[in-house]
Amino acid sequence: MPQVHHITHPLVQHKLTLMRQKDRSTSGFRRLLNEISMLMAYEITRDIPTQLIEIETPLETMQAPVIDGKKTVFVSILRAGNGFLDGMLNVVPGARVGHVGLYRDPKTLVAVEYYFKMPSDMHERDVIVLDPMLATGNSAVAAVERLKECNPKSIRFVCLLAAPEGLKNFHGSHPDVPVYTAAIDRGLNEHGYIVPGLGDAGDRIFGTK
Ligand code: URA
Repeated sequence: MPQVHHITHPLVQHKLTLMRQKDRSTSGFRRLLNEISMLMAYEITRDIPTQLIEIETPLETMQAPVIDGKKTVFVSILRAGNGFLDGMLNVVPGARVGHVGLYRDPKTLVAVEYYFKMPSDMHERDVIVLDPMLATGNSAVAAVERLKECNPKSIRFVCLLAAPEGLKNFHGSHPDVPVYTAAIDRGLNEHGYIVPGLGDAGDRIFGTK
Protein backbone atom coordinates (compact mmCIF):
# COMPACT_ATOMS: atom_id res chain seq x y z
CA MET A 1 0.00 0.00 0.00
CA PRO A 2 1.71 3.20 -1.15
CA GLN A 3 0.43 5.34 1.72
CA VAL A 4 1.67 3.06 4.54
CA HIS A 5 4.96 4.01 6.18
CA HIS A 6 6.26 1.03 8.13
CA ILE A 7 8.70 2.30 10.76
CA THR A 8 11.24 -0.49 10.97
CA HIS A 9 13.93 1.22 13.03
CA PRO A 10 15.50 -1.46 15.30
CA LEU A 11 14.94 0.63 18.43
CA VAL A 12 11.22 0.91 17.67
CA GLN A 13 10.95 -2.80 16.89
CA HIS A 14 12.83 -3.78 20.05
CA LYS A 15 10.65 -1.63 22.29
CA LEU A 16 7.48 -2.85 20.59
CA THR A 17 8.45 -6.46 21.30
CA LEU A 18 8.87 -5.60 24.99
CA MET A 19 5.45 -3.91 25.01
CA ARG A 20 3.73 -6.93 23.47
CA GLN A 21 4.81 -9.21 26.33
CA LYS A 22 1.84 -9.94 28.57
CA ASP A 23 3.79 -9.65 31.83
CA ARG A 24 5.07 -6.12 31.12
CA SER A 25 4.02 -3.85 34.00
CA THR A 26 1.78 -0.82 33.47
CA SER A 27 4.66 1.53 34.23
CA GLY A 28 6.98 -0.37 31.88
CA PHE A 29 4.38 -0.39 29.11
CA ARG A 30 3.80 3.35 29.50
CA ARG A 31 7.52 4.16 29.55
CA LEU A 32 8.12 2.11 26.39
CA LEU A 33 5.19 3.77 24.61
CA ASN A 34 6.62 7.13 25.58
CA GLU A 35 10.02 6.20 24.14
CA ILE A 36 8.53 4.75 20.94
CA SER A 37 6.42 7.91 20.50
CA MET A 38 9.53 10.05 20.49
CA LEU A 39 11.24 7.81 17.95
CA MET A 40 8.13 7.71 15.75
CA ALA A 41 7.75 11.49 15.99
CA TYR A 42 11.21 11.79 14.48
CA GLU A 43 10.13 9.73 11.43
CA ILE A 44 6.69 11.30 11.05
CA THR A 45 7.96 14.88 11.12
CA ARG A 46 10.85 14.19 8.72
CA ASP A 47 9.35 16.40 5.98
CA ILE A 48 7.56 19.14 7.94
CA PRO A 49 8.37 22.60 6.59
CA THR A 50 11.00 24.82 8.15
CA GLN A 51 11.57 28.54 7.80
CA LEU A 52 14.74 30.56 8.07
CA ILE A 53 15.15 33.02 10.93
CA GLU A 54 18.03 35.35 11.64
CA ILE A 55 20.08 34.44 14.71
CA GLU A 56 23.39 35.51 16.20
CA THR A 57 25.98 32.88 17.01
CA PRO A 58 28.91 33.96 19.24
CA LEU A 59 30.77 34.66 15.98
CA GLU A 60 28.32 36.16 13.49
CA THR A 61 24.76 36.57 12.27
CA MET A 62 23.24 33.77 10.19
CA GLN A 63 19.97 32.55 8.67
CA ALA A 64 19.06 29.25 10.37
CA PRO A 65 16.05 26.87 9.98
CA VAL A 66 13.33 26.41 12.61
CA ILE A 67 10.03 24.54 12.55
CA ASP A 68 6.79 26.17 13.57
CA GLY A 69 5.52 23.72 16.16
CA LYS A 70 2.36 25.79 16.65
CA LYS A 71 1.19 24.76 13.19
CA THR A 72 1.19 21.08 14.18
CA VAL A 73 -1.83 19.63 15.97
CA PHE A 74 -1.63 16.22 17.59
CA VAL A 75 -5.13 14.77 17.72
CA SER A 76 -5.55 12.03 20.28
CA ILE A 77 -8.33 9.51 19.75
CA LEU A 78 -9.44 8.90 23.34
CA ARG A 79 -8.40 7.25 25.37
CA ALA A 80 -5.44 5.18 24.13
CA GLY A 81 -4.26 8.01 21.86
CA ASN A 82 -3.26 9.93 25.00
CA GLY A 83 -0.50 7.37 25.55
CA PHE A 84 1.24 8.75 22.46
CA LEU A 85 1.00 12.42 23.50
CA ASP A 86 3.82 12.89 26.03
CA GLY A 87 6.48 11.45 23.74
CA MET A 88 5.27 13.42 20.72
CA LEU A 89 5.10 16.67 22.73
CA ASN A 90 8.62 16.11 24.07
CA VAL A 91 9.83 16.28 20.48
CA VAL A 92 7.42 18.99 19.20
CA PRO A 93 6.71 21.03 22.36
CA GLY A 94 5.00 23.90 20.52
CA ALA A 95 2.32 21.66 19.01
CA ARG A 96 -1.34 22.09 19.88
CA VAL A 97 -3.50 19.16 21.00
CA GLY A 98 -7.01 18.16 19.99
CA HIS A 99 -9.12 15.29 21.31
CA VAL A 100 -11.72 13.06 19.67
CA GLY A 101 -13.81 10.78 21.87
CA LEU A 102 -15.15 7.69 20.16
CA TYR A 103 -16.27 4.41 21.59
CA ARG A 104 -16.68 1.15 19.77
CA ASP A 105 -20.17 -0.28 19.95
CA PRO A 106 -19.29 -3.75 21.28
CA LYS A 107 -21.86 -5.47 19.07
CA THR A 108 -21.43 -3.68 15.74
CA LEU A 109 -17.82 -2.42 16.34
CA VAL A 110 -19.01 0.87 14.76
CA ALA A 111 -17.46 4.11 16.14
CA VAL A 112 -19.78 6.48 18.03
CA GLU A 113 -18.55 10.07 18.75
CA TYR A 114 -19.01 11.55 22.26
CA TYR A 115 -16.35 14.32 22.33
CA PHE A 116 -14.64 16.61 19.80
CA LYS A 117 -12.41 19.55 20.80
CA MET A 118 -9.89 21.14 18.44
CA PRO A 119 -7.75 24.28 18.45
CA SER A 120 -8.99 27.23 16.36
CA ASP A 121 -7.71 27.90 12.84
CA MET A 122 -7.57 24.23 11.92
CA HIS A 123 -7.45 25.26 8.26
CA GLU A 124 -3.90 26.59 8.88
CA ARG A 125 -2.68 23.50 10.67
CA ASP A 126 -1.07 20.13 9.92
CA VAL A 127 -2.84 17.35 11.81
CA ILE A 128 -1.20 14.20 13.18
CA VAL A 129 -3.87 11.77 14.44
CA LEU A 130 -2.77 9.40 17.21
CA ASP A 131 -4.26 6.00 18.09
CA PRO A 132 -2.01 3.08 19.04
CA MET A 133 -4.27 0.42 17.47
CA LEU A 134 -5.66 0.47 13.91
CA ALA A 135 -7.91 -2.57 14.33
CA THR A 136 -11.17 -2.51 12.33
CA GLY A 137 -10.27 1.05 11.31
CA ASN A 138 -13.79 2.28 12.11
CA SER A 139 -12.67 4.79 14.77
CA ALA A 140 -9.86 6.08 12.59
CA VAL A 141 -12.19 6.47 9.59
CA ALA A 142 -14.78 8.33 11.70
CA ALA A 143 -12.17 10.58 13.39
CA VAL A 144 -10.56 11.57 10.08
CA GLU A 145 -13.98 12.15 8.46
CA ARG A 146 -14.81 14.57 11.28
CA LEU A 147 -11.40 16.25 11.09
CA LYS A 148 -11.77 16.80 7.34
CA GLU A 149 -14.81 18.97 8.13
CA CYS A 150 -12.29 21.37 9.80
CA ASN A 151 -10.38 21.59 6.51
CA PRO A 152 -6.80 21.26 7.88
CA LYS A 153 -3.76 21.72 5.62
CA SER A 154 -2.82 18.06 5.93
CA ILE A 155 -3.66 14.93 7.92
CA ARG A 156 -1.49 11.93 8.78
CA PHE A 157 -2.44 8.97 10.95
CA VAL A 158 -0.07 7.31 13.42
CA CYS A 159 -0.50 3.95 15.14
CA LEU A 160 1.70 1.37 16.79
CA LEU A 161 0.00 -1.71 15.36
CA ALA A 162 -2.22 -2.04 12.30
CA ALA A 163 -4.36 -4.96 11.14
CA PRO A 164 -4.58 -5.51 7.35
CA GLU A 165 -8.39 -5.21 7.66
CA GLY A 166 -8.02 -1.79 9.32
CA LEU A 167 -5.57 -0.55 6.71
CA LYS A 168 -7.91 -1.64 3.91
CA ASN A 169 -10.92 0.01 5.54
CA PHE A 170 -8.98 3.21 6.27
CA HIS A 171 -7.48 3.52 2.79
CA GLY A 172 -10.89 2.74 1.24
CA SER A 173 -12.28 5.86 2.94
CA HIS A 174 -9.17 8.07 3.12
CA PRO A 175 -6.71 7.16 0.36
CA ASP A 176 -5.18 10.64 0.71
CA VAL A 177 -4.12 10.16 4.37
CA PRO A 178 -0.77 8.44 4.98
CA VAL A 179 -0.54 5.91 7.81
CA TYR A 180 2.59 5.49 9.93
CA THR A 181 2.84 2.23 11.87
CA ALA A 182 5.49 0.24 13.71
CA ALA A 183 3.96 -3.13 12.72
CA ILE A 184 1.31 -4.74 10.52
CA ASP A 185 0.00 -7.78 12.39
CA ARG A 186 -1.73 -10.92 11.09
CA GLY A 187 -5.35 -9.81 11.51
CA LEU A 188 -8.32 -9.44 13.84
CA ASN A 189 -9.90 -12.02 16.12
CA GLU A 190 -13.66 -12.48 16.56
CA HIS A 191 -13.75 -9.70 19.19
CA GLY A 192 -12.05 -7.17 16.93
CA TYR A 193 -8.66 -7.42 18.70
CA ILE A 194 -5.46 -7.34 16.72
CA VAL A 195 -3.56 -10.65 16.77
CA PRO A 196 -0.94 -11.37 17.89
CA GLY A 197 -1.23 -7.73 19.03
CA LEU A 198 -0.60 -6.46 22.53
CA GLY A 199 -4.08 -6.64 24.07
CA ASP A 200 -6.19 -3.64 24.97
CA ALA A 201 -3.88 -0.65 24.61
CA GLY A 202 -6.01 1.63 26.84
CA ASP A 203 -6.13 -0.92 29.65
CA ARG A 204 -2.40 -1.53 29.41
CA ILE A 205 -1.53 2.21 29.41
CA PHE A 206 -3.86 3.12 32.28
CA GLY A 207 -3.78 -0.15 34.25
CA THR A 208 -7.57 -0.51 34.14
CA LYS A 209 -7.88 -4.24 33.45
N1 URA B 1 -7.99 -1.80 20.51
C1 URA B 1 -7.05 -2.29 21.34
O1 URA B 1 -6.70 -1.66 22.34
N2 URA B 1 -6.47 -3.46 21.03
C2 URA B 1 -6.80 -4.17 19.94
O2 URA B 1 -6.22 -5.23 19.71
C3 URA B 1 -7.80 -3.65 19.10
C4 URA B 1 -8.39 -2.46 19.40
